[in-house]
Amino acid sequence: MHYFSFKKNNLYCENLKIKDLLDKFGTPLYVYSGRTILEHFFKLRDAFAKLEPLICYSVKANSNLSILKLLTSSGAGLDIVSGGELYRAKKLKCSPKKIVYASVGKTDKEIKDAINYGILMFNVESIPELGRIAKIARKLKKRVSVALRLNPDVESGTHAYITTGKGETKFGMDTKTVKGIFLRRASLPYLKIEGLHMHIGSQITKLDPFKKALKKAKKLISELKSKGVKLKYLNIGGGLGIIYEKEKPQTAKEFASGILPLLCDLGLKIILEPGRFIVGNAGILAAKVIYIKETPKKKFVIVDAAMNDLARPSLYEAYHKIVSIEKPRGKKSKKLADVVGPICESGDFLGKERRLDIKEGQAIAVLGAGAYGFSMSSNYNSRPRVAEVLVKNNKAYLIRKREDYNDLIKKEIII
Ligand code: LLP
Repeated sequence: MHYFSFKKNNLYCENLKIKDLLDKFGTPLYVYSGRTILEHFFKLRDAFAKLEPLICYSVKANSNLSILKLLTSSGAGLDIVSGGELYRAKKLKCSPKKIVYASVGKTDKEIKDAINYGILMFNVESIPELGRIAKIARKLKKRVSVALRLNPDVESGTHAYITTGKGETKFGMDTKTVKGIFLRRASLPYLKIEGLHMHIGSQITKLDPFKKALKKAKKLISELKSKGVKLKYLNIGGGLGIIYEKEKPQTAKEFASGILPLLCDLGLKIILEPGRFIVGNAGILAAKVIYIKETPKKKFVIVDAAMNDLARPSLYEAYHKIVSIEKPRGKKSKKLADVVGPICESGDFLGKERRLDIKEGQAIAVLGAGAYGFSMSSNYNSRPRVAEVLVKNNKAYLIRKREDYNDLIKKEIII
């Protein structure tokens, strides 16, 4: 579900013509649909209404302040993974009691800043980290709430780079270690070890991995209960897949009806950390065709966006639909083309073997670019980062200015 669609022959975001937005804001351009973002959030919230979970939007998916504000002002909390993301949350005055903090490498400064802000809890990923948080909490004379991240060692069926719930990944701790910590939690008086956290991977399109992981968590929770250890929170992470090509991911309702039965009898406060599900299909990356190049072997549509703007195709060989923002009239061309950027690497592509009827000067839209698009962009090849626009209440707002050449060098020092 999303609000990018063709009306007559033009691509629209909600009620605004993409062509008009490109004329006004230039290319390449990220365009987000506020309505799509909120509807995804409400769908998840409503599907889990019975449990009244805390839904902490995963900032890393798209960390633009206006998008965070849109979500937090509608009741979302935030799942953060760095001091930088904490800084964003603070800028928005996000309620600290709605912030959870994961990451295998939290530094002392990051831990201290998060404690001082009063976040709801840390999702702790190792014994050394637990010790470090305890030490800093003691120094600050504050009692700090933590959840232990369980690595349930389950297959999630997604790309290896975004699988996080297998035993050999760097995330979380195995069942035995987690259990051991809970049993000796009294020895860490500055910590309230009262939650269990899991996040098994991203772009998971099947229900089964979630169920398997939850069953393992439930077994652990009941073993702990029998030993007198009572928990308060269960954080089931994010990971819900979306449609990029032909995937058939579960809807919010299907997801909830599959796992609610496993959660209802626990009597725990449930936390969710969705990222992609909320923003993935709510954004496009629009770009202009610079050249059409034909070689004896191939046809290339060379556009002004590249792997530095959207890394997913190059990094994970991820598929994103690409459309011309104005539907071509007349005969369809038979030749397939690779849609590539100007960067000096063969890995710089946005799509391969696509059927696109397009001419120089016209524009394309890469769909499903709202999650891990801009947030993973870089200045590689000294390319200024692109502008971002949010459509909200029938209006287009510039929510990040296009960088200029001075932005590229302003932190550099010539010696
Ligand atoms: N919670 C934790 C602890 C996470 O590490 C992540 C994502 C999420 C929640 C949100 O997951 P989501 O609901 O968005 O699947 N760059 C990759 C995805 C990396 C995901 C990292 N962790 C991509 O473009 O596919």
